[in-house]
Amino acid sequence: MTYVRETIVTTKNLDNTIKVSPLGIYISNNELRIKPFSPSQSLDNILRNRSGVINYIDDVRIFASCIVKKKINIEFIEATKIDCSFLKNAISHTEFVIDKVIENDTRPTIICKPVHEETHNFFYGFNRAKSAVIELCILASRLGIIDDKKIQSEIKYLEIAIGKTAGENEIEAWNWLLDYIKKYKEKIRKNV
Ligand SMILES: Cc1cc2nc3c(=O)[nH]c(=O)nc-3n(C[C@H](O)[C@H](O)[C@H](O)COP(=O)(O)O)c2cc1C
Repeated sequence: MTYVRETIVTTKNLDNTIKVSPLGIYISNNELRIKPFSPSQSLDNILRNRSGVINYIDDVRIFASCIVKKKINIEFIEATKIDCSFLKNAISHTEFVIDKVIENDTRPTIICKPVHEETHNFFYGFNRAKSAVIELCILASRLGIIDDKKIQSEIKYLEIAIGKTAGENEIEAWNWLLDYIKKYKEKIRKNV
């Protein structure tokens, strides 16, 4: 069985800026694997630098901003053991180097060797609205692939958790995603 953690991976770009991307971490037998689709900037950066940072973070606005390509102010702190940075508001982070790459044209697997880990904050427990935002991120990243009726019915269901348990950050992220989906649909309608 493979357990997946939804994280933000930070990697160093060629111009020394930091690339921020939501990426799943696949865990089996205590091994951490990243499976970025090719082509992607995160994949290029990890392969070139042979390293990166896995950020465990509960601010879902960062996930949503990446999906809707909204520029938000993200602060970074230099990593300890590798040439990269982690997110200032990460709860914890893992710095890794590449242990092994399993080549694949569409989706290679990077097996990560952790070289340093730090905890920066408390974990304050689960929140249904945060999970709902992550689910909507996944749907929003698959527009045109997932049937629109399915997306609308999922939104209706996920909205229950938003209505009952969201704070300001979750509502902000949720609204960015709804707006992004709405604009996509309007664009499609205009082109028909
Ligand atoms: C919760 C979540 C998990 C994701 N996991 C993956 C993943 O495991 N592999 C992947 O290629 N993309 C994943 N994505 C989509 C990437 O974030 C997106 O494709 C991104 O643009 C990666 O390309 P980049 O490195 O060029 O930014 C995920 C998105 C979300 C919201």
